[in-house]
Parts: sequence; C-alpha cells; structure tokens
Amino acid sequence: MNDHTVPSLEVTDAVLELGDGESRVRALDEVSLTVMPGEFVAIVGPSGSGKSSLLAIAGALSRPDSGTVRVHGTDLGRLSRGAASRFRLRNIGFVFQSGNLLPALTAADQLRLAGRLAGNRHVDTVNLLDSVGMAHRAKHRPGQLSGGERQRVGIARALVNSPSLLLVDEPTAALDRRRSHEVVQLLADRAHESDVAVVMVTHDRDVLEHCDRVLEMVDGRLSEQVLAV
Ligand SMILES: Nc1ncnc2c1ncn2[C@@H]1O[C@H](COP(=O)(O)OP(=O)(O)OP(=O)(O)O)[C@@H](O)[C@H]1O
Ligand SMILES: [Mg+2]
Repeated sequence: MNDHTVPSLEVTDAVLELGDGESRVRALDEVSLTVMPGEFVAIVGPSGSGKSSLLAIAGALSRPDSGTVRVHGTDLGRLSRGAASRFRLRNIGFVFQSGNLLPALTAADQLRLAGRLAGNRHVDTVNLLDSVGMAHRAKHRPGQLSGGERQRVGIARALVNSPSLLLVDEPTAALDRRRSHEVVQLLADRAHESDVAVVMVTHDRDVLEHCDRVLEMVDGRLSEQVLAV
C-alpha cells in the first residue's frame, strides 16, 4: 500500500456545492491537493472556508460534483457507495470535528467496533488507548469523558485499522496547550514512522511546527502558498 511513488491522496480540481437555492454554497472551488506517504499536511483557514468539506471528499464521506479524488491510486468516484465505504473502513482513518463517538459504548468498545466493521477482530485497545493517554478511561462512555478525552478516543479509534491515510478535523480544539502538542506530535510520529499520510485541519497555529506543510483554505480555494511556520 505504501508505494512511495503513488500519492496517498490526490485531489484534482474538486468542486463541491452544498445546499439549495439561495443557501447554495460553493464549499470547494477547484481544489487540488497531493499528499505523499509519510507527509503531515496542515490545512488552516477561516470558519466556513471548506476545510471539513475537503476532508469529507478525501475520506469518501461525500463526492465532489466534479473533479477526482484518488487514494493510493484508487479513484473513489469509480467505486459504488458500498465499495467506497468498505475502502474507507480499511484504508482511511477519520477523526471528526465533533468526535462522533457512539454514546452507549465504552472507549475500548468504540475501538473494537471500528475494528470489527473492517473485519479486524484483534484490536489492541490497551495499547491504542495508551498511545493517546487514555488507557485509564477504557471503560468510560463518552458522557463520562471530557471533550478533550473524547477527541483522544476518536483519534485512537481512527488508528484501529492501521490506516494509510489519516484525516483529522480540529484535533486540538478542546485540548490544553500541553495536550495539543502531545496529540499533534503523536500524529507527526504516525506520519514519519509508519508512512501514514496525515491531513489535519486546525485553527491552532501553535501546533503547526509539527507539520511538514501548511496550506490555507479561503472561500473554498486552497492556496498553494506555504505559510511561514
Ligand atoms: N448542507 C449544507 N448546505 C449549504 N451550505 C453548507 C452545508 N454544509 C456546509 N455548508 C457551507 O459550506 C461551507 C464550507 O463548510 P465547511 O464545514 O467545509 O467549513 P469549515 O472550513 O470546515 O468551517 P469550520 O472551521 O467552521 O469547521 C460553509 O460556508 C458552510 O456554511
Ligand atoms: Mg470544519
């Protein structure tokens, strides 16, 4: 999977329009982005500029109206919806801006379920939760966790199936400074040691020092200009 000549993610001229009539918005306006294995890319930009929309098309959660999305050379637009979901479960880790944990499941069971959905029955929940500093909360349900703790469980869950593309939306929004650096360092380590391509959306300029490239999204357009870190 981690052939170094094939991009982990290749988005070409993606256009995505959302809503109807007067509320119609061009969330993505001819966006192109290439991320190689082992690269850690940050995307910054104002609220409403299309950052989550970009992650959604990269993660096969939605499809662009035009343009292509390739993950390890696979054109997601050529897969049926079912095949795209299976592809996502096996190859892509997604950390949602909202956390998106299931209310009834303990932290450990969130990870086990993500494994089972991808046909992986032997999930090392202790090790994974430990890697995000959450081993001591394995038996807690989301309602019994703080916002930052929920986000860390979400990151551990995204790592369950050893994805080769990891898409992370605002992982540090609910974290203190020290935890923010720890979590982003963890993502950087995943990228650099395991050849995972990581795309992280963030408002937190403080953590950009851990990233290889920083791109900016404004009004649905991704600027190729690399920001000074
Ligand atoms: N279902 C929808 N219908 C119409 N417009 C939508 C819909 N969903 C999102 N939008 C608009 O699309 C644009 C891009 O949204 P997106 O969630 O990608 O922004 P974002 O950069 O992630 O913002 P934030 O930093 O606040 O999370 C926004 O202007 C939003 O208002
Ligand atoms: Mg967003």
